[in-house]
Amino acid sequence: MVRIAPSILSADFAALGRDIALVERGGADLIHVDVMDGHFVPNITIGPPVVRAIKRVATKPLDVHLMIEEPDRYIEDFVNAGASMVSVHVEAVPHLHRTVHFIKKLGAQAGVVLNPATPAASLEDIAGDLDFVLVMSVNPGFSGQAFIRHSLEKLRAVRGVLDRAWSSAVIEIDGGIDLSNVGDVVSAGASILVAGNAIFGTPDPEGATRALRAAAVGSPTRA
Ligand code: DX5
Ligand code: ZN
Repeated sequence: MVRIAPSILSADFAALGRDIALVERGGADLIHVDVMDGHFVPNITIGPPVVRAIKRVATKPLDVHLMIEEPDRYIEDFVNAGASMVSVHVEAVPHLHRTVHFIKKLGAQAGVVLNPATPAASLEDIAGDLDFVLVMSVNPGFSGQAFIRHSLEKLRAVRGVLDRAWSSAVIEIDGGIDLSNVGDVVSAGASILVAGNAIFGTPDPEGATRALRAAAVGSPTRA
């Protein structure tokens, strides 16, 4: 099953409620929320109060992608604010096993994110504990960047690591996803597709969400 997760980083921050309603009408399965602190990545976005506000209007689960230093300090706040899925970067967390189990203990699904230059093998000893893996197909920080083609090999490598660990974790892909590559990423093993610019950068976010799903569902899936 493919799920579409529009990233509100490209939405109109003065009209988040309206933009979320549009993509939900277009069939969005999740709302992807990018949290950036100006340290781990060179951009600053939003924190728990905005997640809480979004939670009041969204009908779909919130998928919160933490691009921050010391995420352990804030995970509980984000779950209390309404996050159903929380992902942390391998590169930002010294005790990944502890962090993953902390997220699960709070009742959220736990995900781990790999930057483009971080190898799939870094998941080997945590794969069995994960609900999902997020593969970055751009360097995190901004919407509207070009998809890094090597991410297709990364997706296949991550699926291999998960399979060897008998992990049922699903793979999410984030960065530069659009109609031109959605089929390739699904064929390579991704089943949650994040898209910012390809949805909110168009005049019709509702139709763009629908079109992405149609293109994804039309492609051969790996499993
Ligand atoms: C990038 C973020 C992405 C971003 C995706 O750091 O994690 O979620 O919003 O935007 P597009 O789809 O425009 O690359
Ligand atoms: Zn993201």
